[in-house]
Amino acid sequence: SWTTGNVIEEQVEAIREQVGDKRAICGLSGGVDSAVAAALVQKAIGSQLTCVYVDHGLMRKGETEQVEKDFVAATGVQLKVVDAEERFLKALAGVSDPEEKRKIIGREFIRVFEQAQAEIIADEGPAVEFLVQGTLYPDVVESGGGTGTANIKSHHNVGGLPEDLEFKLIEPLRKLFKDEVRMVGQELGLPDEIVQRQPFPGPGLGIRIVGEVTKERLDLLREADAIAREELTAAGLDRDIWQCPVVLLADVRSVGVQGDGRTYGHPIVLRPVSSEDAMTADWSRLPYDVLSRISTRITNEVKDVNRVVLDVTSKPPGTIEWE
Ligand code: XMP
Repeated sequence: SWTTGNVIEEQVEAIREQVGDKRAICGLSGGVDSAVAAALVQKAIGSQLTCVYVDHGLMRKGETEQVEKDFVAATGVQLKVVDAEERFLKALAGVSDPEEKRKIIGREFIRVFEQAQAEIIADEGPAVEFLVQGTLYPDVVESGGGTGTANIKSHHNVGGLPEDLEFKLIEPLRKLFKDEVRMVGQELGLPDEIVQRQPFPGPGLGIRIVGEVTKERLDLLREADAIAREELTAAGLDRDIWQCPVVLLADVRSVGVQGDGRTYGHPIVLRPVSSEDAMTADWSRLPYDVLSRISTRITNEVKDVNRVVLDVTSKPPGTIEWE
């Protein structure tokens, strides 16, 4: 019979057999899948696993700390954190086009990750032969069921490593659906904030600022986003909505009034949606009092924001994200 206990036991045994005395690496994104995959592999092979987390500076408030502190505390995993905020900000300077932003973030991410990988490989110890990936059953079906190896081109020739690194894949979640992955994560003792996390795009807040991405704007959006999340959680709405992007219209200003003075600030967009699979979505009919609390708090607490607007577009025609 299917129990999370059986799944874990089975996978732990299989991973131990597969890896032997070699080493494995795993990239953590802060998302559910990579976290549960890493926790499972950690349970199986302990310090033979090293995780890499690239902090691109585009995460939401508290998310990096969640990985660095809570995830490590819950699993005992060996973690290499790369603080790459400056590098990403520099690469994104002056760029407003959404596709270009995505390209830049993706490219920089791979470069930073490969650099970290090369450093781990160069460390003393058994050969690093395995790469852990949080592939789920729906991903397997979608891609035609293939598995095996990943070719990773290394542009950084650290310590005379080969130009092309080939890893065997460990994919302990290949037979599982999302809700089962969450159950396994819970059984492995991962914090709720990670296991129940809603989807968040890889390029992070970089694609939730309409306009150029700067540190100042990121900080502002982080504050607004944190308030929205806090109020949605307090209202018990986390399970009812699929996700709620919070978007800063950095290229737009509107006139407002606060205290005795006229303001000329930016709007924040709330984009709460309900969905089954993100392919289609509907805008969530949130209670007015919750919307009101979010709006009041954001305009009071976040500098330079004088207006909060609600996105009432379904997908299609609107996408969930704004960029
Ligand atoms: P859209 O905006 O296309 O989003 O309706 C559908 C779902 O995908 C997420 N999303 C991404 N996830 N990398 C990701 O890992 C990305 O570049 C990316 N873009 C969008 C989005 O948050 C939603 O859940």
